[in-house]
Amino acid sequence: MQKTKVAIVGMGTVGSGVAQLLLDHGDRTARHAGRVLWLEKVVVRDKSKARLADLPEDVLTDNLQDVLDDPDITVVAQLIGGLEPARSIMLQLLEAGKDIVTANKALLAEHGPELFEKARQLGRSIAFEASVAGGIPIITNISQCLSANQLSSLEGILNGTSNFIVTQMDRLGMPYDQAVKIAQEKGYAEADPTMDVDGTDAAQKLAILAHLAFGAHVSWRDIPRVGIDQLDPADLQYARELGYRIKLLATAHLDQAGLELHVAPTLVRAGLPLAEVQDAFNAIAVVGDAVGPVFYHGLGAGQMPTASAVVADIIDTAVGRTKLTFQTLELFSSAGPPRVRLRA
Ligand code: NDP
Ligand code: HSE
Repeated sequence: MQKTKVAIVGMGTVGSGVAQLLLDHGDRTARHAGRVLWLEKVVVRDKSKARLADLPEDVLTDNLQDVLDDPDITVVAQLIGGLEPARSIMLQLLEAGKDIVTANKALLAEHGPELFEKARQLGRSIAFEASVAGGIPIITNISQCLSANQLSSLEGILNGTSNFIVTQMDRLGMPYDQAVKIAQEKGYAEADPTMDVDGTDAAQKLAILAHLAFGAHVSWRDIPRVGIDQLDPADLQYARELGYRIKLLATAHLDQAGLELHVAPTLVRAGLPLAEVQDAFNAIAVVGDAVGPVFYHGLGAGQMPTASAVVADIIDTAVGRTKLTFQTLELFSSAGPPRVRLRA
């Protein structure tokens, strides 16, 4: 059996889940990849911090150079959040000839064109299924499975933390601050949860999906957004009395005038699939001209659902299924007038 040596950079919530999956289920990945995925190194900031009990001691390092200098490590899961040092590390990894898998949507939404262009120049790949909607394979679905379609509409609950908070407030009457704290404890929230609750995280994910689904080159900063941080529990109650739920929806609608994008708490009629999405689940409803309406539902945040997507990307990369990545490179780096009309 052939062996692909893998490294992880950043061992927080997601990195720990990925390490656990690789350590526990090498045989499972071998079944799909036709080769063993071998966890060779995990790069952390602080080696003395408590880590997974069954992580072999020699796997842990606080020196990125150990990964950069090892030509046998071909795939690296970059799982540090935020922009720096994540961006610099991605560039170093690409320069060192590594293929990359990442869950960092903030980085891709901000520096995607630069990183994908660098990967293209160096003949490397960046896979990012985990960056949008955690365990739901929405990137692959939009880029590959629905590629025969022109999508006209995409409506998604793309932030698990916000949905968790709203459903706890709505169903249990839990105070906002307590719900935020639990979302942090469960590993759903970003290091800075402001990005979850003010609509930034959903806008970053919508910008990535808009690239893939509509070929739109739009900065997440230009997407009008309102978060759930201004919601009053009374809003949720009034909505319920009127037969609606309030959901933080990321919306893209394409018509002859162009593409309209926005993120906002939205009234959704009770009983519709999007209205019934609970806790940290995400959901995405798309409409394609050939396939018609399609609905995706699954856990959009949390350790193992996200690790599931990261490890699937590692397997794809290990066996050279990079079609998605190169197709995506075209979308991210090709110039051309966007068909984007932003909502006033
Ligand atoms: P965490 O904050 O839990 O983990 C990030 C880890 O990166 C921390 O352990 C941190 O170390 C480490 N780190 C930071 N800088 C360095 C460095 N220079 N060298 C080595 N390690 C470093 O975040 P998550 O695991 O939750 O998220 C990781 C990424 O995945 C983010 O981009 C996030 O947006 C994305 N994501 C997260 C999901 C989730 O449900 N949590 C779902 C989908 C995507 P230290 O422990 O020392 O601080
Ligand atoms: N903080 C993000 C969320 C993690 O709550 O959706 C998943 O991208």
